Amino acid sequence: MKNEIYFRRLRENTEIKPFDCDSSELNGFLFDDAKIHQKQLVASTYLLVDKSRTVAYWSYLNDKIIVKDTGDSYEKFIERITSKLGIEIKAKEYKSIPTVKIGRLGVDKEYTHSGVGSQIIEYTKQLFSSERSSSGCRFITVDAFKESIPFYRKNEFEFMSGRDRKSETRQMYCDLLQM
Ligand SMILES: CC(C)(COP(=O)(O)OP(=O)(O)OC[C@H]1O[C@@H](n2cnc3c(N)ncnc32)[C@H](O)[C@@H]1OP(=O)(O)O)[C@@H](O)C(=O)NCCC(=O)NCCS
Repeated sequence: MKNEIYFRRLRENTEIKPFDCDSSELNGFLFDDAKIHQKQLVASTYLLVDKSRTVAYWSYLNDKIIVKDTGDSYEKFIERITSKLGIEIKAKEYKSIPTVKIGRLGVDKEYTHSGVGSQIIEYTKQLFSSERSSSGCRFITVDAFKESIPFYRKNEFEFMSGRDRKSETRQMYCDLLQM
């Protein structure tokens, strides 16, 4: 019989089933920190679970793209973002652009390479580009581990700038209007 997978929002009383995505940092966040961050209203965590394991988890937090993230001058930033937004932004009207950040994303080792991660990204795109969304949100952002960059590239994320080229994580973004 096919293993059923369920979607859950993490709650204080949620039992966290075994999970290992090969990253001690991401495993540790789920078991030790996610509920605290949820309670403090700084990150909301969602889970996919089967009957015995946590299949995947991810968290969202409000974010913004600001001039210094892009490595551009203010004028260049406005030009670059304006061409993406397709509207003329008056100087100083938007010094930052509202985004949602995928703060964490991990897929259990038993489930990787089967499209689960990409489905979570697709769900996120639909969720935040919906007309019913309660506040403005133009991009999805992520601080991508180096090893996961091909995954985000495959899911239409671009690099924010070249300045973090040599870092262990790179800032990436995806435009919710260009999907
Ligand atoms: C990166 C991750 C979320 C991808 O999840 P997934 O469910 O395997 O992703 P998908 O099946 O939708 O796509 C897999 C594709 O992503 C790319 N990819 C790049 N690095 C990868 C990696 N370390 N593991 C899996 N896929 C990776 C490949 O193109 C892969 O295609 P393939 O299956 O044809 O080889 C998952 O591997 C994971 O949890 N990794 C450890 C934690 C991590 O790096 N999280 C990202 C935090 S920024």
